[in-house]
Amino acid sequence: MMTTKTVEKAIPTLTTERLTLRPLDNADVSGFVEIWSDPEFTRYIGGRCDPDSVWHAMAGNIGCWALTGVGPWAVVEQSTGTLVGRAGLWTEPGWPGIEAVWFIRRDRWGRGYAREAATAAIDWVFAQRPDLAEVVSIILPENAASVRVAERLGMTSQRLEFLHGEHHAVYTISRSDWAVALPAQAAQAAQAAR
Ligand SMILES: CC(C)(COP(=O)(O)OP(=O)(O)OC[C@H]1O[C@@H](n2cnc3c(N)ncnc32)[C@H](O)[C@@H]1OP(=O)(O)O)[C@@H](O)C(=O)NCCC(=O)NCCS
Repeated sequence: MMTTKTVEKAIPTLTTERLTLRPLDNADVSGFVEIWSDPEFTRYIGGRCDPDSVWHAMAGNIGCWALTGVGPWAVVEQSTGTLVGRAGLWTEPGWPGIEAVWFIRRDRWGRGYAREAATAAIDWVFAQRPDLAEVVSIILPENAASVRVAERLGMTSQRLEFLHGEHHAVYTISRSDWAVALPAQAAQAAQAAR
């Protein structure tokens, strides 16, 4: 049987120039409720923001790690210790692949945090899964900020798929394209941290 301790062990902590990606914690509920209570933040993700829904979403995130070996991390700003979002990986039955996901609280938008967190997550999963051919990202085409993050990561839109009741663009990046894109991502993060 999978115990809590086993699950914790399965979730690594990653550090980037400015961020720490660490396992979600029960103490994060209020921080995520605050982030998800902003209608501008939830505009394209249709999320509910009451504490109960947030807690269940977090349990699902940790469950994703337990069931699949990948999942999202809590994103913490190193300079302040503030919980600034959730980013990492996601997959579920019927999903187009292993997805890179990103959510950053509104007062931290435009600082390159989504790109920096996603870079760490994509790099981690390609290293962990030598047979993984590509990473995908599932985005509503009208979510311009998220589309831009995907494009800046070097992902390209391949097709539309009807998922969770809506047509989403499926962005992908192959392992070989990632190897080419990574040095630019690292340089960008280092520059942003200066
Ligand atoms: C999408 C989101 C994560 C972007 O976070 P972020 O930390 O501001 O993104 P970055 O700073 O890494 O920006 C990456 C690029 O997107 C651009 N961008 C950011 N917001 C934008 C907007 N509203 N319109 C167009 N481009 C935008 C940035 O300028 C940057 O491009 P550049 O490097 O060419 O300047 C953030 O807006 C968010 O959390 N939105 C709500 C949740 C959500 O929709 N998540 C995605 C679900 S698919």
